[in-house]
Amino acid sequence: DIGRVEFAPEAAATPGAYPTVRMRRNRRDAWTRRLVAETALTTDDLIWPVFVMEGRDAETPVASMPGQVRVTVDRLAKHVEKAAELGIPAVALFPVTPAEAKDAEGTEALNPDNLICRAARELKRAFPEVGLVGDVALDPYTSHGHDGVIRDTRVGAYVHNDDSVSVLVRQAVNQAEAGIDVIAPSDMMDGRVGAIRRALDAEGFIDTRIMSYAAKYASAFYGPFREALGSAQALVGDKKTYQMDPANSDEAMREVALDLAEGADMVMVKPGMPYLDIVRRVRERFDVPTFAYQVSGEYAMITAAANNGWLDRERAMMESLLAFKRAGANGVLSYFAPEAARLLRGR
Ligand code: PBG
Repeated sequence: DIGRVEFAPEAAATPGAYPTVRMRRNRRDAWTRRLVAETALTTDDLIWPVFVMEGRDAETPVASMPGQVRVTVDRLAKHVEKAAELGIPAVALFPVTPAEAKDAEGTEALNPDNLICRAARELKRAFPEVGLVGDVALDPYTSHGHDGVIRDTRVGAYVHNDDSVSVLVRQAVNQAEAGIDVIAPSDMMDGRVGAIRRALDAEGFIDTRIMSYAAKYASAFYGPFREALGSAQALVGDKKTYQMDPANSDEAMREVALDLAEGADMVMVKPGMPYLDIVRRVRERFDVPTFAYQVSGEYAMITAAANNGWLDRERAMMESLLAFKRAGANGVLSYFAPEAARLLRGR
């Protein structure tokens, strides 16, 4: 009878192993499982990305991210209130810039009254205890959808590194002046962290933190985010000349080392779930505050499967967030943040 395997413990009686050792003993009861748990997710680990748009007293759903919305600045405090009450340490702000405010140079990024600056002032007023993360990159503001400015060079039109950095530096200072606490350069230009650090210091913003998107990959998983911002239709070509190749891991170590040398206070790996190996390597090698971004596509995947009844939304959400902690992340940027915090707080 080939289907039946004999249970013969003595056959496996290797000293120090089964059956003396039984891994299942510690898993038997909830209390032992709690005692031996190696990692935990807490509300303190969460940063919530929020989309802000122009207009008054309105919010619109992001079709590819069910449950996420774009809100007008006058509704922002109400929108963030629960997250603040739950004790989420910080929110990350992303602007939906109207097409008519976009140009090839991303000029709107430097406007002291742009969406991000108004949103930052509003949230600082309403919730001074909540940290504000400002994304620094030009893609929400450029007509071509790239993170920097395009110049004709001897090798053709190209996202120009140093000209882009000059603009990004001014964008960062503009955000700091509006009350953004953490500048998060997501553009992947070379040398931008150091240039931003020097400019912030020169302007007296010595304590404005920099969380660099140090290892940011050219990824398909940003699709829903670009829909949320309306930068998808705008994007000409792809971002492979500045965002990293998903094939690479050693290169991520160089990126992180450079950003730290240039003054980054915290580093980020992005996307999240497909790049947990990078999170682990960064954390082990550098011992610095390391964050992971569970990006829009990851949120969309879990939500779509749950909405089809194929996954248990809460369990998949909590498991995915815990996985970041296990991989070594100190915190996670996640669209699930308020929902997860509510579960963690038992509300
Ligand atoms: C902008 C930026 C992007 C995301 C965060 N900042 C998009 C991109 O690089 O194209 C993606 C976030 C997400 O997908 O949730 N540079």
